[in-house]
Formats: sequence, C-alpha cells, structure tokens
Amino acid sequence: MSQVKDPTVSPSGRVKIEWARDNMPVLARIAKRFAASKVFKGHRVAMCLHLEAKTAVLAEVFLKAGAEVAITGSNPLSTQDDVAAALSETGVHVYAWRGVSDQEHASNLDRVLSVKPDLLIDDGAELSIASHLKGLRLVQTIIGACEETTTGVSRLRAMEREGRLKFPVIAVNDAYTKFLFDSRYGTGQSGLEGIMRATNLLLAGRTIVVAGFGWVGRGVALRAKGMGSRVIVTEVDPV
Ligand SMILES: NC(=O)c1ccc[n+]([C@@H]2O[C@H](COP(=O)([O-])OP(=O)(O)OC[C@H]3O[C@@H](n4cnc5c(N)ncnc54)[C@H](O)[C@@H]3O)[C@@H](O)[C@H]2O)c1
Repeated sequence: MSQVKDPTVSPSGRVKIEWARDNMPVLARIAKRFAASKVFKGHRVAMCLHLEAKTAVLAEVFLKAGAEVAITGSNPLSTQDDVAAALSETGVHVYAWRGVSDQEHASNLDRVLSVKPDLLIDDGAELSIASHLKGLRLVQTIIGACEETTTGVSRLRAMEREGRLKFPVIAVNDAYTKFLFDSRYGTGQSGLEGIMRATNLLLAGRTIVVAGFGWVGRGVALRAKGMGSRVIVTEVDPV
C-alpha cells in the first residue's frame, strides 16, 4: 500500500512521466527487451532516488520486467507529488512526498525495505546503510546494490575498509557515462537553472567563480560562459 501526499494529482504526473518516457529512447529499448523476457521476475527491487519523472520511468521498467518494486525519495525537496501519485497507480509501492521530515524519511526507508528486496538502487547509500542497520537476516538476502553519487560511494568505501559492507555495490557514480554526461552536461545545466530560479537574475554580465575545474566545474564554466557571464576558475591542481 503506497503513501503519497495526494493521489488526486496523478493526471499531471502521468503527463510528466509520458513526456520523460518519450525522451528516454535507450531505456525504452531496454524496457521492450526486458518486458518480453521478464528478466526480473521473482526479484524485489528497492529504490531510493530523486522521485521525479525520469526515475518513475526507470521504476516502471523494473515493474514491466517482472520485479516487485518499492521506492522512496532521496531528498526531501526533490519529490514531485504528482509523479509519486501517478507512479503509485502502476503497481509500484511508493512511499514519498515532498517535504518529508528526517523521521518520515527513515520510516519510508523502513517501509521500502519491508518488501525484503534482493536488489537496491541507491542515491546517497541511504538504503544500503539502512539495510545494514536492520541486521544480517535482510542483508544476507541482498544480491547487491548500485550507488549513483560521490557521497554514497564514499560512505560505502568507508564501510568496505572497516569490513562492514556485506554485499557488493556497483559504483555507477564512477562510470565514464556519468562523468561524460551527468557531471559534464547535466550538473552544469541544473546547477545554473537552480541559481536562476532562486535568484531571478540574469546571468549575462555577472561574474561567476567556479571552484574546481573537474568534470562538473568544466560543465558549469562552459554553460555560464554561454549565458554571457564572466567566468573565473579556481583550481588547486596546477596541471
Ligand atoms: N548532480 C550533482 O549535483 C553532482 C553530480 C556530479 C558531481 N557532483 C559534485 O560536484 C563536485 C565535483 O565533482 P567532479 O566530478 O567535478 O569532481 P572532480 O574530481 O572531477 O573535480 C574536482 C576538482 O576540484 C579541484 N579542487 C579540489 N579542492 C579544491 C579547492 N579547494 N579549490 C579549488 N579547486 C579544488 C580538484 O583538483 C579537481 O580538479 C563533487 O563534490 C561532486 O560530489 C554533483
């Protein structure tokens, strides 16, 4: 039984999911193949991700591929309530609403883990860590997890070093496809968009300082320059 803020707002969520689906051709091809083979039949997938339309499309793919799927949001402010409502109508167990408190977030993680998942899709290592806190019985049934953030990978590497990590984790975060697309292009776009929405200012003519000229810094600097800003980069690595 899902818990979302308002089930009646699902129509706009369905439109957002449909738009995202139409713009995710690679996942669409995977979905077609997996829906035919039902490759995840008998598996239970737990997800803790930013609950917006693209994530909903991913959750649907697991569902179509035969899995039981439960999901919660990875950030209290990124959950879109209409998308969560629409996703809960598909058969995915959704425990997410915008503005969850820390306590609600912890209890939503618990509810997601109550499906006794064997696969975890994580953002920030929230589910991986919560499952370890629940004890050996749950952890032993988990085949593995994947983690898509630098923060999450650091938390998991620390657990691994101390011999506390009980299942393998794919560090999706460290894949070149993430550096080359999400880090270089995605964060440049979403970071600047966030600044524009929050400040309601024109970027042209502003001076923007980018600290660090790695994958993300390069993307932010390039986009800021494209918006007409004067860009200054600081970098500790002289090479
Ligand atoms: N969607 C997102 O929000 C998102 C996505 C990817 C990465 N990130 C975050 O962005 C940050 C950068 O990621 P990245 O992939 O570009 O890492 P990176 O390792 O490729 O680049 C970081 C750069 O910062 C430089 N640096 C370190 N300390 C510095 C300092 N004090 N002053 C100036 N430069 C310094 C390093 O030499 C390096 O070149 C990380 O914190 C990462 O977690 C966020």
